[in-house]
Amino acid sequence: MFIRILGSAAGGGFPQWNCNCPMCTGVRTGSINARVRTQSSIAVSHDRCDWVLFNASPDILTQIQQCGVLQPARQLRDTGIQSIVLMDAQIDHTTGLLMLREHRQALSIWCTAAVREDLSEGNPLFRVLDHYSGIDWHELTTDGNVCQIPGAASVTFTALSLTSNAPPYSPHRDKPVDGDTIGMMMSDTVSGRSVFYAPGLGEMETHVWEAMQSADVVLIDGTMWTDDEMIQRGASNKTARSMGHLPQSGSGGMLEWLDKLPESTRKILIHINNTNPILDEDSEERSILDDHGVEVAHDGLELEI
Ligand code: MLT
Ligand code: MN
Ligand code: ZN
Repeated sequence: MFIRILGSAAGGGFPQWNCNCPMCTGVRTGSINARVRTQSSIAVSHDRCDWVLFNASPDILTQIQQCGVLQPARQLRDTGIQSIVLMDAQIDHTTGLLMLREHRQALSIWCTAAVREDLSEGNPLFRVLDHYSGIDWHELTTDGNVCQIPGAASVTFTALSLTSNAPPYSPHRDKPVDGDTIGMMMSDTVSGRSVFYAPGLGEMETHVWEAMQSADVVLIDGTMWTDDEMIQRGASNKTARSMGHLPQSGSGGMLEWLDKLPESTRKILIHINNTNPILDEDSEERSILDDHGVEVAHDGLELEI
């Protein structure tokens, strides 16, 4: 399978429009060694012709323009995107759906019942889209069901329930329910290799850890380096953990877990917040990641698995 990283930043992107933190200023002025990043999305394919889009970010139109293979141009109105999977109901993963409203058929959307509810009630995106292309909803369950999703013929998908956090407009905010946030195990039936993808992961539960251990590649939550990094910078009063993201550093942090994976596992952080010092490729934190064999995803990166 092919995985194309369309957007590697967390909500807000990098730089964030209203942020003058050292990282955002640094990338804006070119005074640090960092790449601009759009908001969290990947695309998965078997043949680089048909694709399954994971998340519809607010930057989706730019991302489609920057990834020519998503537009095969077989007819007047066309797209390579056959299906759309939503990992949660957050703004950075769903707002781009509105930009796809011109689609000639109902948008084929794969998500859990909890996400569908949040996008019908708390933030009624699906009801708005009913006035345009409409939605063809396919339920994702977290009971171990293995499914095939049109757009990635050789790949099987298994959704896992994760503990993270639901969006602020959800009735489940701070009271997580099954299906608010998922991780996805993707296995290629031709290569025999697999990827575990989870851009939002707040707790390392046993079933998640087992999935990570069995994967050849983990594409995993890299939102923040330290739990209180936004507070330290005066950017927000939220901690990483309160938002449902395990920080990389410190006791019980993501790096400790990644260290326990086999050396052969490719470890890639994704969904990086603009306050995270790892965005600076010359930073001490980035060299710590290098020492631990952990990569940082960037927009345009393509994996063949
Ligand atoms: C998250 O990942 O916690 C959210 O996307 C934050 C946000 O609303 O940008
Ligand atoms: Mn997010
Ligand atoms: Zn910033």
